[in-house]
This record gives sequence, structure tokens and C-alpha cells, in this order.
Amino acid sequence: MSKVSSSNSMWGGRFAGGPASVMREINASIPFDKRLWKQDIAGSKAHVAMLAKQGIVEGEDAQAITEGLNRIAAEYEADGVPVNMDLEDIHMVTESRLAELIGPAAGRLHTARSRNDQVATDFRLWVRDAIDEVQAGLEALQAALLARAEEHVGAVMPGFTHLQSAQPVTLGHHLMAYFEMIRRDRSRFADARARMNECPLGAAALAGTGFPIDRHATAAALGFDRPTDNSLDSVSDRDFALDYLMAATQCSLHLSRLAEEFIIWASQPFGFVKLPDAYSTGSSIMPQKRNPDAAELVRGHAGRIMGCMTALCVTMKGLPLAYSKDMQDDKPPVFEAHDLLGLSIAAMTGMIGTVTFRTDRMRALAESGFATATDLADWLVREANVPFREAHHITGRAVAAAEAAGTPLAELSIETLKAIDPRIDDRIYAVLTVDASVASRRSHGGTAPDQVRARIAQAREEMSR
Ligand code: ARG
Repeated sequence: MSKVSSSNSMWGGRFAGGPASVMREINASIPFDKRLWKQDIAGSKAHVAMLAKQGIVEGEDAQAITEGLNRIAAEYEADGVPVNMDLEDIHMVTESRLAELIGPAAGRLHTARSRNDQVATDFRLWVRDAIDEVQAGLEALQAALLARAEEHVGAVMPGFTHLQSAQPVTLGHHLMAYFEMIRRDRSRFADARARMNECPLGAAALAGTGFPIDRHATAAALGFDRPTDNSLDSVSDRDFALDYLMAATQCSLHLSRLAEEFIIWASQPFGFVKLPDAYSTGSSIMPQKRNPDAAELVRGHAGRIMGCMTALCVTMKGLPLAYSKDMQDDKPPVFEAHDLLGLSIAAMTGMIGTVTFRTDRMRALAESGFATATDLADWLVREANVPFREAHHITGRAVAAAEAAGTPLAELSIETLKAIDPRIDDRIYAVLTVDASVASRRSHGGTAPDQVRARIAQAREEMSR
């Protein structure tokens, strides 16, 4: 196996030879952890400011280090991070560039710190930012759902159980169901953010440090609520990444269900929606096709996001304290999941905002499926004091009669209905239409347009807080 000629310039003091090329390759995380550069520089700046304040590093050296770090940030911003496999990771790439820029003083930056607490800090900062991005995306999705729900608060459609027409609902109510899912997702991300907001910097390699550092100062400088309380846990904890991935998984499941509805609704037999051109593709051989690719990919991405979550669970399973290199593999699944989730949220927001709902078609199907059968049974209970189970049987006979006659329930004659059960009178027609059915479901959280309107108003109020 080939070897590089020299040992590692950052940690190679006791090594006579360099690593095998495959060792360099398996060891290096720079190809992916370069995404942490902003957080790495922010963490180093907070650390060196604290070292100077505590008298651990001379003010002059700290100043040179800070200026050097600012310059490196400008370089990365302009040209990207150089991928140098010999230097392993973002921490060493940056420190080695600092040495090129300011000389030996650069070597003082790593006092009272290890890459173990450094990477734990950087990654937490990154995931915290990622959550803020997701929250902004989900807020836009909620706004789109609210707008379309409000527009269609009275549009009747079939409500389904077992994907069979069950009872009429409104499109506004249906869309608001997704609003509620996203609201819970946002609360999960907010919980995760609050829980992770403790700073591991200063835990050093695993045991803390003998230098008189001020962990409260670095925690505050980086926007954390407080320092973490156990150095071993600090460098080996990746709960924050798992919390993110679990919240992302749950969110992606919701998005996949919404995507699936769109896929079904866009199919010809349903015809509930016309997907916007901007989120559909054509077929290269079938000119009539208009495929819901964006929705299908959102459905598919949920599987990949769940895979990322599983990958990190399996990486962490059974790891002894404290840091082990396995944990370097924590980043790719989080980055991948975050990218996929961002795309999925944006695609669903775009689709919700621009899809054409075929409310005439929805109404026609709601009227055709005997969807008001429960209303007939409820009427018998309410107005004729019939026990529900008996009312259910009577209604079953009415449905059979309507089916045989090929008409909706509302078009059965009163004679026919009375022949089924004499207690029925013509007040029944007031509950057999789909509009009467949805309007009657005024229980809290029910589909009645005034209930849904009230929830929309309350949701808007909650979001403006
Ligand atoms: N690149 C490493 C990671 O991502 C940084 C920590 C390295 N620590 C160590 N003891 N080798 O986990």
C-alpha cells in the first residue's frame, strides 16, 4: 500500500511515517464537513476571545488569530473550502490555513480545546441553524395551506375512510388536517432546538481541562443557553442530530401523505386536481401524460430521510463513552436529510399554492356515493327517537333502494322512504344534501364551514404571535 512521505502536520509528532493512502481516504471528513465552516470559525472566535479574557493567550496573539479567522472566512466565502485530504477535516484545514496566514501564534488557538468538543459544538450550531431554516419553510407551507383552506372552506368533497367515500367533508377542512400535522412538526423542531441549546465547548477531549477557561462565556457568545454539564457526555452526545432526524422523519411522513393525496387526486378516475405545469412533467412517448413527479419525489424522499435517521441510530447504537471515530459518520445523513427535507417542503408549498382544485368534480362525487347515509340514520335517532343501531339498518335499506333506483339518497321519493320506515317524514330532505350534512357537523373540530373558519382564524392568530 502506498504511503505519503511525511506524517500529519497537525498531530504527527510521534509518527515517523505517513498514513496509507486508503487510511487518508477513510479518515478524511473534509469532503462533507466543509459544510461546517461557518460554525467552525464562529466557535474558534468565541474560544479565542475567551482564552484572551482569561489570560490564557496574550491579547496580541488572540487578535492575530481573530483577524486570521476573519480572513479565512472571506476566502471560504469567495472560493469555497479547499479539500485537502491530508488535513482530514474542516478543523485542521482551517487551523493550517491560519498558520500560513499568521505563523506560530495560530498554534495557540487549540489551547484548552480538542476536536472532540470542537466538532460537537460546530455540529450543534449547524443543526440549530438547520432547524431555523426548516421552521421558515414550514411556516410558508402553513401559510399556503391556510390560504387555500380559507378559499375552499365551503367546497364539499367526499371524505374517505379505507379510501371509500364515507361522509362529505369540505376541502378546507381536509387541507387544515395537514396544517395541524405541520403545526405538530414545528413544535417537535422547536422542542429539539430548545433541548440542544447547550454548549459542549470546553469539554475538551473528554475530561475537561486544567486551564482556567470560562465555559459560560463561550456558551453565551455562541447563543447557547448554558454550557453542558458532563464533559464525557458533551463529546459523545449526538442526541441533537437524532432529534433533528426524528423530527425530519415525522415531517417527511406528513409531506409524503399530502403528496400521495395529490398523486391520487390528479389521477383521471379522481380528477380532483389539475397539478400546475410548474410541478408536473410530460412523458417522452405518451403526449397526453402529465405526471405528478414532484409529488412522487416528495413521497420517495420520505423513505430516504427515514433511512438517514436509521443510519445515525445504528451508528450510535452501542458506542461506549466517549468519542469514537464512528461518530464522524454523523454528518452525511443529517446533511442529506436536511437537503431532501428542504426540497420537499418547498415543492409541497409550491404545489399547494398553485394547484387547481376541481371543486365541481369533488362535489359531484360527494353527491354520488350515498355519503349522507349517516345523516339519515342520525335524523332517525334525533327526530324519531330510534336507537342508532336500528336506524343504521333502516338507512341500509334506503341505500339499497337508492342503489337499485340509480339515484342519490336525496332523490328517493317520500313514498319510497316511508315504505322503508313510516317514521320518516319530509323534513328528512333537509339533511340529505351534502351541504346540509357538512353544515350540521358543528362539533369542535368538525367539518362544518363555521367550525373550519373559526379554526383558520385562530391558527392565523397563533402564527402571528
Ligand atoms: N472529523 C472528526 C469528526 O467529525 C473531528 C473529531 C476528531 N476527533 C478525533 N479524536 N479524531 O468526528
